[in-house]
Amino acid sequence: MTKNLIIFGTRPEAIKMAPLIKEFMLHGDIFETKVCVTAQHREMLDQVLDFFEIVPDFDLNLMRPNQNLNKLTSSILLGLKPVLESFKPDYVFVHGDTTTTMAASMAAFYLGSKICHVEAGLRTTNMQSPFPEEMNRSVTGVLSNIHFAPTQISKQNLMLENKPKEHIIVTGNTVIDALLFSIKKVNSPDYTNDEIRKLTDLLDSNKKLILVTGHRRENHGAGFIRICDAIKQIIKRNPDVEIIYPLHLNPNVQNPVRDRLSETENIHLIPPLSYPSFVWLMAKSYLIITDSGGVQEEAPSLGKPVLVMRDTTERPEAVNAGTVVLVGTNTKKIISEAHKLLNDTLAYEKMSKKHNPYGDGRACLKIVNHIISCI
Ligand code: UD1
Ligand code: UDP
Repeated sequence: MTKNLIIFGTRPEAIKMAPLIKEFMLHGDIFETKVCVTAQHREMLDQVLDFFEIVPDFDLNLMRPNQNLNKLTSSILLGLKPVLESFKPDYVFVHGDTTTTMAASMAAFYLGSKICHVEAGLRTTNMQSPFPEEMNRSVTGVLSNIHFAPTQISKQNLMLENKPKEHIIVTGNTVIDALLFSIKKVNSPDYTNDEIRKLTDLLDSNKKLILVTGHRRENHGAGFIRICDAIKQIIKRNPDVEIIYPLHLNPNVQNPVRDRLSETENIHLIPPLSYPSFVWLMAKSYLIITDSGGVQEEAPSLGKPVLVMRDTTERPEAVNAGTVVLVGTNTKKIISEAHKLLNDTLAYEKMSKKHNPYGDGRACLKIVNHIISCI
């Protein structure tokens, strides 16, 4: 039997790897597949594991409050060594661009497993933005044997780095597999959960809803202060709008945002939501303002316009299609673009068209079929 080890650590990696785990589990006659979480995130990771009913075989439990990157990187390298030595996987699967991704690739390289990088080839070519993700995915790309690229653009990026063409497989993004699975579940007649019930009570159905999320390290400090100023102004100028902001648990996000926004009318600061509740909320919202990578990929499938609070993007597909606009953390720009979408119906309709540049929900099937063809 071919042995797979799927390693991840944070909320977005879990969401995007969950459907791949399910797909490999359908092929238990060919593969022995095990899951290892570094738990770089804890509560936010566990929310995803619960929803997708995944019980990890190995849990390194590494989340520490306000952990620094050096400590986290070294803990992952040390923690994975006995796991890799005992299981001896043929293939190690890592996802995207977190510290878990980069350190797990190094650990797998040292132990001699083949490395498969899911969501490979995203690049801004600016090592400082996003920080440290551009470095993480570049290093992972150097170490990987198979690159599962979500789009033709990400394949091109890898070819520009001289990765062999035959080792780059375009699959679409596994986030669409996860999203379609979740939409189906959330829309089934008997599905409900406490979070969705509470959100329904909280929200005013007569107001336009803006959904905000943010966590990027390069926005910590001054960036978050400008973001909060913009959110306050949008609410002040548009009395028919309410804002909901599920706050990332990083204290560098919690503290400045709570200090500035917690007493403001029509702004709801809430804890991170489970994935199905967040999908429900995206579908309910009029507009999304975010610095998240995953949300940029999901929103076009739901026909929701997105203002991206970043200066660079490794996801040009939705920008090119006109459903996403980069606004950075420039207060004036965030306010003016939001104002346009709230008040100009034509501009809104132009941006809110349903569009699916990131796949058709069959990315995981393509990944598994490719591995089967390799063994
Ligand atoms: C990490 C990733 C980032 C990814 C993001 C997704 C790195 C360097 N960063 O950023 O690429 O986009 O996750 O959300 O890999 N915390 C909790 N509970 C949790 C999760 C986080 O309390 O469940 C707090 C802890 O204090 C933790 C801090 O948040 O130390 C930062 O977590 P960390 O994983 O280092 O960075 P993120 O900003 O979450
Ligand atoms: N998400 C979630 N609950 C929330 C906020 C986001 O489940 O309260 C999901 C979202 O749908 C997306 C992923 O988390 O799939 C994005 O995570 P994040 O923004 O933390 O990371 P990034 O994608 O920027 O790496």
